[in-house]
Amino acid sequence: MEKKLPAAIPAEELEKMEHYAALLAARADELVARGERRPRALIETYGCQQNVADSDRMRGMLELCGYDEAESRKDADFILFNTCAVREHAELRVLGNIGALKHEKEERPGLVIGICGCMMQQEHRVREIMEKYRHVSVVFGTHTFYKLPELLYSALEGERRAEVTNGETAIPEGLPVKRSGGDRAFVTIMYGCNNFCTYCIVPYTRGRERSREREKILEEVRSLAAAGIGEIMLLGQNVNSYGKDRYEDYRFADLLREIDGVPGDFTLKFMTSHPKDLTREVIDAMAESRHVARELHLPVQSGSDRILKKMNRHYTAESYKQLIAYARERMPDIRLTSDIIVGFPTETEEDFEATLALVREVRYFNLFTFIYSKRSGTPAATMEGQVEESVKKERIARLIEVQTEIRKQYYWEE
Ligand code: 5AD
Ligand code: SF4
Repeated sequence: MEKKLPAAIPAEELEKMEHYAALLAARADELVARGERRPRALIETYGCQQNVADSDRMRGMLELCGYDEAESRKDADFILFNTCAVREHAELRVLGNIGALKHEKEERPGLVIGICGCMMQQEHRVREIMEKYRHVSVVFGTHTFYKLPELLYSALEGERRAEVTNGETAIPEGLPVKRSGGDRAFVTIMYGCNNFCTYCIVPYTRGRERSREREKILEEVRSLAAAGIGEIMLLGQNVNSYGKDRYEDYRFADLLREIDGVPGDFTLKFMTSHPKDLTREVIDAMAESRHVARELHLPVQSGSDRILKKMNRHYTAESYKQLIAYARERMPDIRLTSDIIVGFPTETEEDFEATLALVREVRYFNLFTFIYSKRSGTPAATMEGQVEESVKKERIARLIEVQTEIRKQYYWEE
């Protein structure tokens, strides 16, 4: 029996999108008929691969709107920032870049500037843009990106609009796509996250977990494989939860096996896995596959059980290591990578040393290291015991040093 299905974008919304795209395309054609150049758009993408995948859809819509791709900001008639909210640093970079365009907009009033993505799922940021960055006229969030043609049209009519919803969590099925990844294609298998790790803004900006329909995913994979793509990367904030919201007993391992059966000469990768949800069945499916790369990105975040508990991660350093041991038993050549946050609230020297010990023991091929960044609205932001910036910096430097040593040994072994 199938569960209540997560909704796709309603047909009338898709029709509306196409309607505005057609109006814009007619304008673009008129320009060309007058001997002017076709309008050009530039999307600057920040953050994770999901944003890259969303930008590919937006580029598809812009193509439908009759826009060519611009090579630079100066060359563009429409500049859109697809933003990330995971760390403050990324947010400040975007704000700096948008601020720097104020002058450009004064010189070229016809220029349209837009901002979308995770940053715009935060009310305070939307308010800030609408009040202080008045040269921005197109604002939308992660749930409404299919409204791009309509908002761009309004902007050309002289309006400034923000279209952000929180409750609406439609799956963006049925949108045109213009892929940017060359020989690699991203295929989203699920959107959103239900985990609420206490440091993370993603469950607030991307909404609840929604799995795409199995047949839609397979169709996309089949057509990519038939076109001769070299690498397919399955995407989701938490790919190991695939299917739970949609199917009674069809899970990520089943999907992986089915995709592995698709004919073609492609390498299959996936990210991101959560250690609490990565099952032995998935590891078995990897080990027994033809296409799946011997690579596993399994973010541990910390090696201290006390900190893992405060992060709401639902595993211990020991259970994590057992999972890794099983993966290595099934695939001795597997390359492991991970994300680690240093300086989570209350992290002591002892907690941090537990992280170093875990890193030394697991011997990752590659590590993505982050200084804890306070995200307003998340539980960790108001926890007692925020760690001094200088301590965080010292710890991340030590962590990078340990990882650099490990990486060198990999090269000596090769
Ligand atoms: N501060 C620092 N790093 C963070 N990450 C997520 N939220 C934060 C935060 N508030 C890191 C995690 C995650 C990666 C994508 O970003 O390590 O796995
Ligand atoms: Fe954020 Fe945790 Fe979800 Fe990853 S699993 S997106 S870190 S809440």
